[in-house]
Amino acid sequence: MLRITIDGPAGAGKSTVARELAQLLGYTYLDTGAMYRALAFAALRDGIPADDEPALAALLVRLDLRFERGRIRLGDEDVADEIRAPAVDRIVSTVAAHPRVREAFVQRQRALAQDGGVVVDGRDAGTVVLPGAECKFFLTASLDARAARRHRELLSQGVRVALEDVRREMAERDALDEMRAVGALRVPEGALVVDTTGLSAAEVVQQLAAYCRERGA
Ligand code: DC
Repeated sequence: MLRITIDGPAGAGKSTVARELAQLLGYTYLDTGAMYRALAFAALRDGIPADDEPALAALLVRLDLRFERGRIRLGDEDVADEIRAPAVDRIVSTVAAHPRVREAFVQRQRALAQDGGVVVDGRDAGTVVLPGAECKFFLTASLDARAARRHRELLSQGVRVALEDVRREMAERDALDEMRAVGALRVPEGALVVDTTGLSAAEVVQQLAAYCRERGA
């Protein structure tokens, strides 16, 4: 049972590809972005500012965060849809930049992945969480393609926003994710880089699955 990591910027198609690859291989999908999003969502609800690292670290310890049947929950509450709201998008990179927040989540992610048979998607999955993973991928796509994907996703959820605003906020979020001191977005050593611009999710999944099977998945 291998450990598979998929990193890359927002909108590169990581979560769809990671979910489908996990299903194809009979592995568990671990969406690490959902964990940062759940913390950002809980902070918004509790009125904790995104730059208050000690308060966020304390909130994280109290969070009863779990994945059930592919949906993220806070205690008994399913928050899988709420964590995708634009208000969460706006603050999540700031929340995720705090070293104490990252340390705590990285520990939880390693514990969840320790038996293998996992597909972990995120920004630092192959660099920090599981640097020894057997298969590492870095998915990327042009900013226009990524913004268009995210825009379609928001419209399908009934959130009406201008494509240009999505594109600008995405570029800002990328910059924060790439420049932070801890767990910055970069290509992991030994990762296969796949540009998904113009490719369907199914095509990317096939490419990744073939690579994993060559390595014993
Ligand atoms: O992949 P996503 O859009 O759901 O990620 C949400 C945010 O969380 C994004 O700004 C980057 C951050 N993140 C992170 O810092 N580290 C991870 N392993 C996953 C996500």
